[in-house]
Amino acid sequence: MCGIVGYIGNSSVGPILFESLSRLEYRGYDSAGIALLNGHGIEVHKRVGKLKGLIEGTSQLPLRGHLGLGHTRWATHGEPSETNAHPHLDCQGRLAIVHNGIIENYRELKERLLDQGHRFQSQTDTEVIAHLVEHYSRSLSLRDAFRKALQELQGSYALCLLATDDPERLYGARLGSPLILGIGKNEMFLASDVPAVLGRTREIMYLNDREVVELSQNSLQISTLDGNPIDRQPSRIDWDIACAQKSGFKHFMLKEIHEQPNTIEQTILNRLDWQIQQVRFDERTNHFLERLSPDEQFVIIACGTAYHAALVGEYMLEEFAEMAVDVDLASEFRYRKPRLNRHTTVLAISQSGETADTLAGIRLAKEQGAKVLSICNVVGSSVARESDAVLFTHAGPEIAVASTKAYTAQLTVLALLTMYLANARQLLKDPEKLQFFRTFRKLPELARLALNAEADIQKIAFFYADSENFYYLGRKYNFPSALEGALKLKEICPKIHAEGYAAGEMKHGPIALIRPGWPVLFIATDSNVYDKVISNIEETRARKASCVVIASEGNRSIRSYADHVIEVPKTEEIFSPILTAIPLQLLAYYIADLNGCDVDQPPNLAKSVTVE
Ligand code: M6R
Repeated sequence: MCGIVGYIGNSSVGPILFESLSRLEYRGYDSAGIALLNGHGIEVHKRVGKLKGLIEGTSQLPLRGHLGLGHTRWATHGEPSETNAHPHLDCQGRLAIVHNGIIENYRELKERLLDQGHRFQSQTDTEVIAHLVEHYSRSLSLRDAFRKALQELQGSYALCLLATDDPERLYGARLGSPLILGIGKNEMFLASDVPAVLGRTREIMYLNDREVVELSQNSLQISTLDGNPIDRQPSRIDWDIACAQKSGFKHFMLKEIHEQPNTIEQTILNRLDWQIQQVRFDERTNHFLERLSPDEQFVIIACGTAYHAALVGEYMLEEFAEMAVDVDLASEFRYRKPRLNRHTTVLAISQSGETADTLAGIRLAKEQGAKVLSICNVVGSSVARESDAVLFTHAGPEIAVASTKAYTAQLTVLALLTMYLANARQLLKDPEKLQFFRTFRKLPELARLALNAEADIQKIAFFYADSENFYYLGRKYNFPSALEGALKLKEICPKIHAEGYAAGEMKHGPIALIRPGWPVLFIATDSNVYDKVISNIEETRARKASCVVIASEGNRSIRSYADHVIEVPKTEEIFSPILTAIPLQLLAYYIADLNGCDVDQPPNLAKSVTVE
């Protein structure tokens, strides 16, 4: 993972690098570092731990210069230490490099460079790149040496390079890890993600795989690895900086949970055609969907939270669009021998659009002749660019590591897609269609009402904050909700071991662990499996578990089965995971906050998993 930034311009480089890095910390935060050209040479500062430590540790220094690089790290090769923190230098300290990705052939390259007399300081894979460029720059210009070195690298990289011999230029390159260019007034940026530059510019360009960029203060040149120039126009980002900041909330996660009525609304906006009572997407996607064969098979691939959305999507598409649907973890799918053909659509779901396993799954699907549709939150991301058509979730930038608003936006898009396909196949009767349309229109308001349980959830969180374990159970549409609820808690509150199960599976094993007082959260909203869930609640209560139940508003009888009840608005079953997600997120948030956990940046995690 890791976040990288580069700056060239006429402002003082130190504060700009820190500001940009602070917006990339979600990508990794076990160490941070910067390098700048200060007129005498390369000045490097690094600290283990979060960026704050580096900022405080350098607060008395001028950090002047007009060219610099920065890095916030999520360790892959070599423990988090000052030596392993980026930037990395060559033997002579004449060039500095920051990297996001993994160089798979670094061992061979390192051995060769060691034989040639290079001296290494760190255990990282990245340092070989600095020495490789140094090696070639003995006989070539920096530009050509960089290119030559890139041609030898196997694996993935987003790179940013500066050198004392070329003090008016910054270089960048990408293969498999994201890199964007920000075009400002008398200044240029390189960064892993858009929020890093939003404070200075909204003019953005995306670099593609196997492209190199050379930046000066007022110009940029993109080219292929072989040196062929590429002409590309910038796009204008319509998020503003406030979207990427906390707006008064204690954490980004809490802010993002509260944004859901709005993000759901944005996701539905302009997609309901009331006149013909059909869902409409953009032209390219409509065209893609219109050409699906009657016996089209969907294979949904995703990771983490997006995988839980995929599981809900399976229930939706099977029930209403009567389609054959398989769901797979992208990290498994990419190594299987799936039977795909031209009647298969691989539906990839990813918030960031940069998840390495999901991208690999997309590439495998294409190799095998399948079509690729994706659900993605980031315009211009790799997933979006490599798909035949994209259904964008309009959730805005999601900064907290724990995904919340992107998940409910993914579920909303899956419901829209289901409606589209069910309608196109004439599987919905008019009253049913109308009812679904009405619920879509009400969904933002229902999400707002679901947030009303916040004060009760805070009290419940207090009751369970000292727990060591937590089970989350649900059935059918809310089985994936149980998985997602447990993932949220274990991600942001690593003190508690949480697991989600299909409620019917309890008696096949997990129930063995239940002891008096063991916390179990049930999702028991109105559905045709409600009575079955009640039986499962009885089974756990017979073993004296402590039960929290998420139930549909107005369900009075549920109180006799539960220690604590959280109400969500009534809705059709297909929409219920969108609403039950909200209390699950809030409960995890308040338990984690009471435990003093680092909610937005939990240990060992990073927002965007761009490595395998
Ligand atoms: O960006 P993506 O949706 O592809 O990310 C997939 C997972 O890495 C992500 O959902 C992860 O599980 C989140 N931290 C969950 O909160």
